[in-house]
Amino acid sequence: MKLKKLVVIAALFFNNQINYSCSIFAYVGSQLCKAHVLKGLSRLEYRGYDSSGFAVYDIVTNDLVVLKKPGKIAELKMAALASSCDGYAALGHTRWSTHGVSNEVNAHPHTNDDRTFALVHNGIIENHFQLREQLSKEGYTFKTETDTEVMVHLFDQELKKTDDIKKATLQTVRKLKGACTFVALHKDHPEMLIAARQRAPICIGVGEDGMHIASDFLAFADKTNQVFFMPEKSIAFIKKGAIFAYDYDGNVLPIETKTVNLQPSAYEKLDHDHFMLKEIYEQKIAIEKTVAHLHELGDKVWSQLGLTPQQARTLFSLNLFGCGTSWHAARIGQFFFEKIAKMPTSVYLASEFRYMEFFPCLDCLFMSVSQSGETADTLELIRYFKKFGARLATLTNVATSSMVRETNGHLLTKAGPEIAVASTKAFSTQLASLYWLAHRFALQRGHINMEQMAQAEKDVLHAASVLEQTIDQYKVDIIEAAKTYAQAQRIMYLGRHVTYPFAMEGALKLKEISYIFAQGYPAGELKHGSIALVDEHTPIILFSHQDPVIYQKLVGNAQEVKARGGHLLIFAFEGQDELIQLADRVYTIPRVAPLLEPLAMTGIMQFFAYQVALVLGRDIDKPRNLAKSVTVE
Ligand code: F6R
Repeated sequence: MKLKKLVVIAALFFNNQINYSCSIFAYVGSQLCKAHVLKGLSRLEYRGYDSSGFAVYDIVTNDLVVLKKPGKIAELKMAALASSCDGYAALGHTRWSTHGVSNEVNAHPHTNDDRTFALVHNGIIENHFQLREQLSKEGYTFKTETDTEVMVHLFDQELKKTDDIKKATLQTVRKLKGACTFVALHKDHPEMLIAARQRAPICIGVGEDGMHIASDFLAFADKTNQVFFMPEKSIAFIKKGAIFAYDYDGNVLPIETKTVNLQPSAYEKLDHDHFMLKEIYEQKIAIEKTVAHLHELGDKVWSQLGLTPQQARTLFSLNLFGCGTSWHAARIGQFFFEKIAKMPTSVYLASEFRYMEFFPCLDCLFMSVSQSGETADTLELIRYFKKFGARLATLTNVATSSMVRETNGHLLTKAGPEIAVASTKAFSTQLASLYWLAHRFALQRGHINMEQMAQAEKDVLHAASVLEQTIDQYKVDIIEAAKTYAQAQRIMYLGRHVTYPFAMEGALKLKEISYIFAQGYPAGELKHGSIALVDEHTPIILFSHQDPVIYQKLVGNAQEVKARGGHLLIFAFEGQDELIQLADRVYTIPRVAPLLEPLAMTGIMQFFAYQVALVLGRDIDKPRNLAKSVTVE
C-alpha cells in the first residue's frame, strides 16, 4: 500500500452541526466487526437519528445480511444483538430523512434487486428525478421513496455491463449530480469496500487491523489517528491493508494520511445529564483557549487568513455569511467590525444569498462562519463566490473541514467537539473570535494601539467569567422559573442593536430543544405590528444593552409591553434600575465592555432554554427532526 504520511498534527475537532446530515461508518479488516460498526455509528448519531441500518458480509452464510430500523440506533443494536450475523466487512448508516419518511423501507443500506451489494449514501442527489424516470423506463422498479435508490439501480446497471468494478463505479458517479457520497459492499468482493466522495465528507482511518471509513473520524478515534480524507470527486477501493483512490477521470490519487488528535473526554458526558449542559459549562475554558490561540497568532493572523498585512489595512469591506447560530454570531460580529475596525460589513444568510445577484468585489473579504465547516448551504455559497474570484476565508471549529480546504485562509475557534445538536460553546467562541479579529483589523488600520488590543483580550476573558458566574448565580431561580415558562405556547425574545441578533439566537435555542414557538424580534419593531401578540400568555424576554441611548429606548419598549398586560423577563445590566423595576422577573448582569453584552448573557440564555426543555422532558441532545451537521441544502 502506498500510504504517505503527512505529519500535520493539530488539535482537530470534527463534528457538528453540523452539514450532509446522515452518517456513514464502515469497516474492512481482520476483525469481526459487527459490534465495532454499531459502536462507531452510535458516535455519529448526532448527525441524524431518524433511522439506522447495517449490512455485513456474513462469514457463516457467505451472504450479505442487512438490518434496518426506524428510530434511534438503540433499535438497530437490539436487532443486531438478536442476529448471529458477523463478518470482516460491514457498513452502517444513520439517517436524517430528506426523501421519504423515516421507516424501515427508506432506511439505508439499500440493496439492488439481486441483493449482490448494499449501499449507504450521504447527501441529496439533485438529478434523482430525471434518473428515476430514465431507470423506470429501462425496467427498474422503485421500492423506496429515497433518492438513494437511483444510485443503487445505476450502479447495478453499470456492474451488469462490465466486470471492471472501477469502471462501473466511475460510470455511476459521473451520472450523479449533487451530494452523492456513498460506501458500498459487494458480495463478490467481500474483502473490499467501495467509496465515493461527492460533496459530503468521508474519511478513512488507517488502523492496524483494518480500515475504518466514516463521515467523521470521531467514529473511529479509539482505533487510529491516521486519517485519509477523501478528496472531492474521488472514488476509493478499500481493503484491509490498502487504499486505491482515483479522481473521476480515473487517475490514481496519492494516499496521504494526516495525524489527528482528539480529546476522548470531549465525547463523554462526565457527570452532566446532557452534553448540552456540559458544553454550556465548558464555555469559559473554550473562550480562554480561543483567546490564547488568537493571541499567540498575533499578526500571523493575516497570512492565516490568506491576506497580506497591506490588504488587511486597505480591504474595502468584510462580508460574513453562515446559517443558524453561526449566522447569528456573524450578525453580532457585524457590529464589532463596523464600530471597532470601521469596516463596512455585510452579513448574508447562506441559504438565501446563493440565489441572489452577486456584485463581485475584489477588494473585499468573504468569510464564512461555521462551527462544523461542512454546512452545505454555506459551502455552496463559498463555491458560488469562488466562481467570481472572491477572496475567501472561514471561521470554523474544525481544522480538517471542507471550508478550510476550499477557502484561501481560515481562523479556528477552540471550542472543542460540540456533541449536543444545539450549538452553545461554538457560538460563544465565534463571538470571542470575531471580537478579537475586529480589534486586530482596527490595530492594523490604525484605529487602536497595542494597549487597546491587549485590553480587548482581557475584556473577552472578563465577559467569559461573567457568562459562567451568572449561571451559578441564577441557576436555582432559572430551574424554578422554567416550570412556569415551560407552560407557554409561545415566547417572544426582544433586543436592540447587538442584542437583537442575540434575541434571535435565544429564540432559536429555545425552539430547537423545547419545541416552544419563539421569535427573536427587534424591540423597536414591536409597535409596527407584533405588539398585537402581547398578552399575559405570551412571555416576553428582553435583553438589555449598556449603551445609555439604546437602553432608554428599551425602557420605552418594556413600558409598551407592561401597558398591555404583558409578562416581562428581563436580562438587565447592573444599575439599570428603571428597566429592572418593569420586570416580572429579572437577571442582573455585571457590566462588561461595550458590544460584549451578548457574550456575557450567553450562559444564562442557554441555561434557561435547557431548563425549559428539561421540564418538558425533551430529548435535549438530539431534538426531533434535527441533525448536528446539516450537510444537505
Ligand atoms: C443551532 C445550530 C445550527 C447551526 C447551523 C449551521 O443550535 O447549531 O443553527 O448553527 O446548522 O451550522 P454550522 O455552524 O456548523 O455551519
